[in-house]
Amino acid sequence: MPPAEKPRPPLPADALSLPARFYVDEAHYAAELERLFLARWFYAGREAEIPRRGEYVLREVGDESLIVTRSDDARIRAFFNVCRHRGTRLCEAPAGSFGGAIRCPYHAWAYDLSGRLLGAPTMEQCPDFRAEDYPLIEARTTVWDGHIFLSLADDPPPLGERLGMLVDKFQPWKMAEMVLAERVVYEVAANWKLIIQNYSECLHCPGVHPALQRLSHFLSGENVQPTPGYLGGSMELRDKVETLSRDGRYVGACVPGLAQNDLHQVHYYAILPNLLLSLHPDYMMTHRLTPKGAGRTEIVCEWHFRPESGDSPEFDPQSAIEFWDMTNRQDWHVCEQMQLGLKSRAYRPGPYSPREDLLYAFDRLIRESEESR
Ligand code: FES
Ligand SMILES: [Fe+2]
Repeated sequence: MPPAEKPRPPLPADALSLPARFYVDEAHYAAELERLFLARWFYAGREAEIPRRGEYVLREVGDESLIVTRSDDARIRAFFNVCRHRGTRLCEAPAGSFGGAIRCPYHAWAYDLSGRLLGAPTMEQCPDFRAEDYPLIEARTTVWDGHIFLSLADDPPPLGERLGMLVDKFQPWKMAEMVLAERVVYEVAANWKLIIQNYSECLHCPGVHPALQRLSHFLSGENVQPTPGYLGGSMELRDKVETLSRDGRYVGACVPGLAQNDLHQVHYYAILPNLLLSLHPDYMMTHRLTPKGAGRTEIVCEWHFRPESGDSPEFDPQSAIEFWDMTNRQDWHVCEQMQLGLKSRAYRPGPYSPREDLLYAFDRLIRESEESR
């Protein structure tokens, strides 16, 4: 039985999709990347990717490359991947370990894991040269329950202000303890906002995702009040469905201590600008979006389970991975089709349904950020 639909109030008459330039114009894209990504907290992956000192991952956003590493005091730090000698990129490999020092491949300037310059060949012959004047330039980092966020702003407001009630709401999942089972990287020929908009409505679910629709009815969704930090809500699992997987049965160990409600629904939140966080009763799925141009987005999707899941001989993460990999590809396909349509001279902003209310809220945030330039 489908759930009784709780009708949502109609949106104002001006609730129309955004003009095409928001999706296809490279200059618009570059300005938006500066305002909505680099100047805010953006998601950069999981602390568990760099568990030991000296391990690092690179994160490339726009023209910037950032080295995210674990320093001697075990803190996560991020440095611009730019040598203080003549600006060369310090490292090229997307992930690895520095050992004790970050060494530039060009003239061998070397930095410690706190960014201090340790050595600069022949510069000791310059009487005015002081190594302390040339540390690596650092970006801001913060960690929320295992998730790393970066900001290139000088003094961004605390991430907690953006996350608001989500910090308490998701505390039961103990996300920092979750263990990665799989990572799939997708290259999608669509603007990053289309991915967020697609994630934020399930009006498309019956046609695009028949398997998802069998496990969770598209009209069962309830949204919370959107904020500048996040958009989202939850959807109910149908009767006798335990989680989203090939057969609707649990895949991993259930998160202990979940409220009764949380055992029968999946929470979907777009943490703006680039983390899609999907919490199931027995696993966490994350999508990390990295814009690569007006019409291109890299999406890293990961599946994380409770550490005790592996104790069970029945543990089969593939059941969740295959289900969502199929669903992801269905989503990316419609996003790419929309990107193509947006390039046409025939495209005009069209009206949103009441079930696309989060998109209307998101678009207003995008427009407000443009107006506040
Ligand atoms: S540019 Fe890095 S040592 Fe010269
Ligand atoms: Fe979808």
